Amino acid sequence: MRVGVLTGGGDCPGLNAVIRAVVRTGAAEHEMEFIGFRDGWRGPLEGDTMVLDVQAVRGILPRGGTILGSSRTNPLAESATIDGQSGVDRIKENLESLGVDALVAIGGEDTLGVAAKLHGAGANVVGVPKTIDNDLSATDYTFGFDTAVNIAMEAIDRLHTTAESHHRALIVEVMGRHAGWIALHAGMAGGANVILIPEKPFDIEQVCEYVKHRFQTRYAPIVVVAEGAVPKTSGEPAADQELDAFGHVRLASRGIGQMLADEIESRTGKEARCTVLGHVQRGGTPTAFDRVLATRFGVGAIRAVADGAFGSMVSLRGTDIVRVPLAEATKELKVVPPERYAEAEVFFG
Ligand code: F6P
Repeated sequence: MRVGVLTGGGDCPGLNAVIRAVVRTGAAEHEMEFIGFRDGWRGPLEGDTMVLDVQAVRGILPRGGTILGSSRTNPLAESATIDGQSGVDRIKENLESLGVDALVAIGGEDTLGVAAKLHGAGANVVGVPKTIDNDLSATDYTFGFDTAVNIAMEAIDRLHTTAESHHRALIVEVMGRHAGWIALHAGMAGGANVILIPEKPFDIEQVCEYVKHRFQTRYAPIVVVAEGAVPKTSGEPAADQELDAFGHVRLASRGIGQMLADEIESRTGKEARCTVLGHVQRGGTPTAFDRVLATRFGVGAIRAVADGAFGSMVSLRGTDIVRVPLAEATKELKVVPPERYAEAEVFFG
């Protein structure tokens, strides 16, 4: 059996661990051979491939990024239709001519949405969930999230001491367009004085009260804000109008963190600075938790292929790796529930 593998969407630590586990399990347990598709859906759309055998995956377990490359190419977009042939049909044709019997698609909401469509069109696809945002409802955790949280937590730890030295408020902007999981976990782990998430529009007056209160102690305030957080009045994230291939707004470089710093400074009279962690959260080596989860997902995905369980996605439920329908994977965004936020609020101010 010949199995294609691709990684799509924003990269995240643990992708290489999945690829390694897929190839090693397939070779060891099922005598499968593999073919790598480059740069997400661009690979199968254009027939751009690379060698993917046991030798190619040696040494990649601790490496961040993805040896296959990634992109946000969307085969469902109108622009993917060429001479009347849709992106999905082109992919099916390419898979057939390359002798690919099944495809393992490793990605987030967008990549898995395409995987579900492709499966609906008759291709043999198994999905592996990936996103540092941890916002897929069909799995308890995605790999990459734990690494991102640890990177953000370490940054918060460091910012505490410099904030105290200079009696400044420090605003830390983390990733999370629609879901505040990274902000919530990193903020809680790092002892932030305020955590702002997209799920709950914030009151700037209240934020300034927390900041002022913190300055009354001998410590300085750290505000952790998810990039998609919005003030109560505006209702819109701080964004430019540029969209990516899946129609998501690309958030502005002068985002909510800097806006908050400016506002806090003018309202409280205290100096405020912003640190945007950005892609640092997505780069580098995965934590042990993410390496193990990614490896288990890889083993589970290839076992699903061997069982002919196409149209499914591997998922973590409790401590078990289970299979769920691909269609379910993208049905609902997993956002921070109010009761989880309320636990963090205990420590504000
Ligand atoms: O979906 C993962 C993610 O890292 C988001 O947290 C972030 O908003 C987005 O990707 C950034 O995308 P890009 O790297 O394409 O700018």
